[in-house]
Amino acid sequence: MPLVTTKEMFKKAYEGGYAIGAFNVNNMEIVQGITRAAKKLNAPVILQCSAGARKYASHDYLVAMVKAAAEETGLPIALHLDHGPDFETCKSCIDGGFTSVMIDGSSLPYEENIALTKKVVDYAHEHGCVVEGELGTLAGVEDDVQVDSDAASYTRPEEVFDFVSRTGVDSLAIAIGTSHGAYKFKPGQKPQLRFDILKAVEEKLPGFPIVLHGASSVNQEHIKLINKFGGEMPDAIGIPEEMLRKAASMAVCKINVDSDIRIAMTAALRKHLTENPTHFDPRQYLTPARNLIEEVVAHKIEVVFGSKDKA
Ligand code: G3H
Ligand code: 13P
Ligand code: ZN
Repeated sequence: MPLVTTKEMFKKAYEGGYAIGAFNVNNMEIVQGITRAAKKLNAPVILQCSAGARKYASHDYLVAMVKAAAEETGLPIALHLDHGPDFETCKSCIDGGFTSVMIDGSSLPYEENIALTKKVVDYAHEHGCVVEGELGTLAGVEDDVQVDSDAASYTRPEEVFDFVSRTGVDSLAIAIGTSHGAYKFKPGQKPQLRFDILKAVEEKLPGFPIVLHGASSVNQEHIKLINKFGGEMPDAIGIPEEMLRKAASMAVCKINVDSDIRIAMTAALRKHLTENPTHFDPRQYLTPARNLIEEVVAHKIEVVFGSKDKA
């Protein structure tokens, strides 16, 4: 099946009260781990690549791997640019086979965010591609950019209608207390999300798909495995699964996950290499890593996002 946009997926997800998983991909094992889980559960899925992923794996390899996965599984799969930093990067992805792009103008002044986002939307829509914009800034780490929690700001519901109508975006990422990376809350801090903001956004934009970034849950068993086999990860707290379920039942149609995949992969690799010190064939240690990614993604689809059997 050819790659699809997120248009139809989001419409069904909004109406059905579930969300589509959007997973970051950087190499073949990650693409396969995710899409094997999606195939097993007959779920639509979004595979997304950051600017860093394009730098690491190269645009052409990523597109070819995601297209191969869509062909092999026959599932509706969208290929999305995650956190597009500028017009040129978005254009290069639109011209080069992506079906969806995010333009992340969230750190710009409001009017500049609108102008940049609209420029990307105009180009994308002429080329059959959809666009995600962002209002509000998340704390955390993306590539080399670190936004600490004091500099992060929640989305202002009073701005969302103006932003969406003036830019023409197809979906909107909002900041309600999630953040990027494995350390979303300070040790001992109780995880909290501003569902009041999500509700207010939903009321301003009825039927419009909302996106949640920074939504990894951080599996404590995987952190324990990493540390048992030589890692030194400090205590990490993610977004509780019941909060993600609640968001998915509301206007959130796309939930972004990267850190959970990184942590699973690292846990499986550390365990395998420590338990099998003589192994040096990458297929031996990448197989458990790919299997654990599959397990993590299957759990999200079935238990957390509710997208099983929605393909
Ligand atoms: O939100 C950011 C994603 O986790 C991608 O991270 O820019 O390090 O590839 P990256
Ligand atoms: P996590 O770091 O919580 O996995 O968030 C990923 C993300 O938002 C990608 O855009
Ligand atoms: Zn993000």
